[in-house]
Amino acid sequence: MQEKILKIKEEFESLINTVENSEALEQIRINFLGKKGQVTDLLKNLKNASNDEKKVLGKEINLLKRHVEEQIASTVEKIKKAEEEKLVNSATKYDVSLPVDFSQGSFHPITLVQREVEEIFYTMGFTIEDFPEVVDDYNCFEALNIPKHHPARDMQDTYYLENGQLLKTHTSAAQNSIMRKYGAPLRAIFPSRCFRNESTDACHENTFFQMEGIMIDENISISNLIYFMKTMLSEVFHKDINVRLRPGFFPFVEPGFELDISCLICGGEGCPSCKNSGWLELCPCGMIHPNVLKYGGIDTDKYTGFAFGLGLTRLAMMKYGIKDIRDLNSGNLKSLSQFKNK
Ligand code: DAH
Repeated sequence: MQEKILKIKEEFESLINTVENSEALEQIRINFLGKKGQVTDLLKNLKNASNDEKKVLGKEINLLKRHVEEQIASTVEKIKKAEEEKLVNSATKYDVSLPVDFSQGSFHPITLVQREVEEIFYTMGFTIEDFPEVVDDYNCFEALNIPKHHPARDMQDTYYLENGQLLKTHTSAAQNSIMRKYGAPLRAIFPSRCFRNESTDACHENTFFQMEGIMIDENISISNLIYFMKTMLSEVFHKDINVRLRPGFFPFVEPGFELDISCLICGGEGCPSCKNSGWLELCPCGMIHPNVLKYGGIDTDKYTGFAFGLGLTRLAMMKYGIKDIRDLNSGNLKSLSQFKNK
């Protein structure tokens, strides 16, 4: 048995010294300390030893167990640190501490991302539409199948004007007018600033940017939606992006989805920035609800369509590695002046 203990220890040492990511480390933990782990087995087998042997071996196995536990705990810390560093280094394009260069004006990072996405959709036959930031209740909610007192309104509290109009909470507010303006078939994107009554922190802002897109034609299906999203995202990130759809509820689409992309930092293997899932949530979307098409004057016997609401702010943060959303509206030239080379 002593030999076995030594062998297990050697095997553990060689594995723990070369482990590179948290998933592999977890495997090692299971392999040695899990229910059927090697160290757990040693302890289980101890019952077959004589009393004298038990004393000596028991002590040795417990020492080994403690050693394995300690090594794993310190390696978890090491790996976490290394993974965080990797994350920070992968976002080298953005550095809040760089000195300010006032010699030239610069584009806001959201403007850069917006123009890039516009260009991609433009080449795919989409028109780019503009729509006011102040809208009425009908456009922002009713025409999107969100009647008064619908619980979906709770998530979209906003700023109301005395005349009953409001600051739009999402770019979907333009869907109805654009359908009415052009009819079907239709391909359009409409980027805009949106507003919500939010308490702000590193991930939440009361003012942010979205880009809505709709495509309406005969025989439009979810495959079209996936194709357009995949193409657009692969262009934006200059590499092949994997996407997946999860069910999501939005009253104006049926079925509705959350579109995730494979994590850009770890390539889908799992890391802190994707909470080890390998996926990042990017863009809610779905097939436009027949009621919404009807409100927009579209013949639902003939046409179907998809819609998506891309978080432009989120996209810019991901693309440039901006960790605090508040930097974007801060007017802080130190952080904003470095996005000029486009
Ligand atoms: N308007 C939604 C929001 O801001 C996002 C959204 C979801 C837009 C699904 C869509 C869609 O076009 O299909 O929360």
